[in-house]
Amino acid sequence: MVKPLTTMLVVRLEASVYIMQCLLPNHHHTTSEHKLSSIHISSNSDISLITMVDAPMPSTMRKWKYSSVEGGIEKNLKLASEPLPRPKADQHLVQVLAVGLNPVDIKPAEAFIGRFAVKKPATPGFDFAGRIVTPATGSKLKAGDLVYGAANANPLAGGALAEYIAAPAATVCPIPDGVSPLDAAGVPVAAITAYSSLIPYIKSGSRVFLNGGSGGVGTYGIQIAKAVGAHVTVSCSGRNAELCRSLGADEVLDYTKRPLLAQLKDAVTAAGRPFDHVGDYVFSDPDLYYKAHTYTTSSAKFVEVASGPNLPFIRFALGANIVPGVLGGGRRKLVIFVADVKSENLEPVSKLMAEGKVKTITDQVFSFENVAEAVKRLKTGRAAGKVIVDVAGKGQQ
Ligand SMILES: NC(=O)c1ccc[n+]([C@@H]2O[C@H](COP(=O)([O-])OP(=O)(O)OC[C@H]3O[C@@H](n4cnc5c(N)ncnc54)[C@H](OP(=O)(O)O)[C@@H]3O)[C@@H](O)[C@H]2O)c1
Repeated sequence: MVKPLTTMLVVRLEASVYIMQCLLPNHHHTTSEHKLSSIHISSNSDISLITMVDAPMPSTMRKWKYSSVEGGIEKNLKLASEPLPRPKADQHLVQVLAVGLNPVDIKPAEAFIGRFAVKKPATPGFDFAGRIVTPATGSKLKAGDLVYGAANANPLAGGALAEYIAAPAATVCPIPDGVSPLDAAGVPVAAITAYSSLIPYIKSGSRVFLNGGSGGVGTYGIQIAKAVGAHVTVSCSGRNAELCRSLGADEVLDYTKRPLLAQLKDAVTAAGRPFDHVGDYVFSDPDLYYKAHTYTTSSAKFVEVASGPNLPFIRFALGANIVPGVLGGGRRKLVIFVADVKSENLEPVSKLMAEGKVKTITDQVFSFENVAEAVKRLKTGRAAGKVIVDVAGKGQQ
């Protein structure tokens, strides 16, 4: 699940290939070609989750699009009406119920490089939860099944903020029992990232430091690390300390009070033991990596999640990989992580959710009409948990 830096560049190339594919003409179908063929009663126990049989499909749908990022994506979003997508054999046609926003929906598109790499008009959103209208050819999933995953194989391609999508079968999973579509929509990118930045490196009793415990990735990260029995220390601002503790964090460092490095060294002294692993979900200070030898064991890995197409990060990634430790480079193994949302990576997270060990923490739910506000909220960088868009409206959740 972990991809090296070179793969990040490949992902960007893949985005260009995707853009080329998007330039090819689309074929749309009309009204009653797709109908729900079964009654699905979700084990989520809400009576409103019953799907009606043979409800006529609309011929058009609403979809958010932007053609420019001048002044920010949120200022350029327009609600378009267009025919429903026509899925390929390996795609499900899905009615979208909810979308969970991630920085990847915004940051690359607004970055200098993204202005050229993301084809316009573009539809933001990658993570979704929805209901299958027509399953992919040969799929075990049926019409009416509740699913969640990624709207696209390429995170830069987005596409989820629409009433219907053609989602690749390879990036979709059934929603675990007892989990609502609103909660499931928050999971894919953030929880896969948290899982992959921790599980290969930690075991019961490991001392783990997570930089940024209160965001989308951090709130899943705390729960996943606790699920394997690790001792978890996180950073966040004071206002989110209680949230992190409520999720199981053993120690919370308020980065607004004192330099984090000093607090980490104090934590090591107090415990009489360095940290075994670091997950950086913020990239707030490159010295957390360069000075990691002052607060971690010699075998500790430093997983950098908060990568971005910006100069400070590119400089850090290149420098950290090139400059040897004796010349001031890092002395711990740096792993730069890029999430790969596919069903096999979602399954272990689904299991933890079904067991009640991991849940979504929601910062705020926005209506489909209010997507611009949802984007603004995410862009504050202050969300505590996930920013969710209720695409189908409360009546259908
Ligand atoms: N590589 C990948 O595949 C991948 C996947 C997912 C996410 N990411 C990246 O990982 C980062 C986190 O994503 P996310 O979805 O968790 O973002 P997010 O939900 O927007 O993160 C917001 C949280 O960050 C916290 N925060 C901000 N500055 C902080 C600081 N200096 N120290 C500690 N906490 C701080 C805030 O807490 P306070 O308000 O308390 O400060 C807030 O709760 C982003 O950079 C994102 O692009 C990468």
